[in-house]
Amino acid sequence: MIFEQIATGGCQSYLIGCNESSGAALIDPEISQIDHYIALAARDGLRIRYVIDTHTHADHFSATRQLARQLGVPVVMHRASSAPFVDMRIGDGEMIIVGKLRLHAIHTPGHTRDSMCLRVEDRLFTGDTLLIGATGRTDLPTGDPEALFDSLFHRILRLDADVKVFPAHDYKGRRNSTIGQELATNPRLQTRERAAFAEMMRNLDLSMPTHITEALRTNMSGGKSVAQLLAEAAARVPFMSLEELRARIQAAEDDLIVLDVREREAYESGHIPGARVLPRGQLELRVNQELPDPTRRVLTCCELGYVSTLAASTLREIGFLHTVALDGGMKAWREAGYPVKVGREPQ
Ligand SMILES: [Fe+2]
Repeated sequence: MIFEQIATGGCQSYLIGCNESSGAALIDPEISQIDHYIALAARDGLRIRYVIDTHTHADHFSATRQLARQLGVPVVMHRASSAPFVDMRIGDGEMIIVGKLRLHAIHTPGHTRDSMCLRVEDRLFTGDTLLIGATGRTDLPTGDPEALFDSLFHRILRLDADVKVFPAHDYKGRRNSTIGQELATNPRLQTRERAAFAEMMRNLDLSMPTHITEALRTNMSGGKSVAQLLAEAAARVPFMSLEELRARIQAAEDDLIVLDVREREAYESGHIPGARVLPRGQLELRVNQELPDPTRRVLTCCELGYVSTLAASTLREIGFLHTVALDGGMKAWREAGYPVKVGREPQ
């Protein structure tokens, strides 16, 4: 087996490949690592055949949908998953075959209703059902402490003690453990009575993971995260640095229309000298009046540089092909000590 473990913060993803067929499966990919996974597979001479989520993640942005589209391969999840973009739903006792590799699905509800573990040879990819020294939490949507108890003690902890455990998370930089080690040392597994275990899980009082609403929304629907929207917009537009813009303003080159896309109030409290104001919310509606010549070069700016990127992308999309976005925003412009004009510009 060819094996790669990729950590993104505390999130763990796994690329497992068959030496003979060069086919591979990717387990629990994270959105910021898409290029990394593809590069790793290429370096190892692997072709990714399946992208698999062990469950609906609440704490990170899954890359399965995007990778599936990019690679032309199916998204695999447990059949209890409500995500509409899943191509292949699998059930307990079923397996995915990748060359000589057999990925056996074990339905392990508890952390979420759609959680599954995947056993491949002597390795068990436990998702968030069993972590090193912990278990997945059961207080997020579809979590169920009694079901987790059953999944742990009646299913995966009955596997051989030397089966290696590879979880979907580890925040302490550990790579793996074994079933035997977890049974012996995992504090949460020392409560072996169902009701007491459920009681312990209900009383953990954990803080909510950051991005939970957005992660659940995008992972369940296949919709885009805000970071993804921004990255896509940024990939479609060129940028101009603050220094370059400043030099051009000083040289009084008049070919550039600086378009401030913040609200008028923010604009009037301080803008780049000579900039026009056209708030992002009115961009499409007022663009014909404000920018009658689509051949002009337009530079968008905002407070932080995000909204201006979206605005530049929209302008390009509707035919302003010489639009650029400022690399940075008014905040950075002011901090650099560059000139700011308060109030309106002469008409
Ligand atoms: Fe999770």
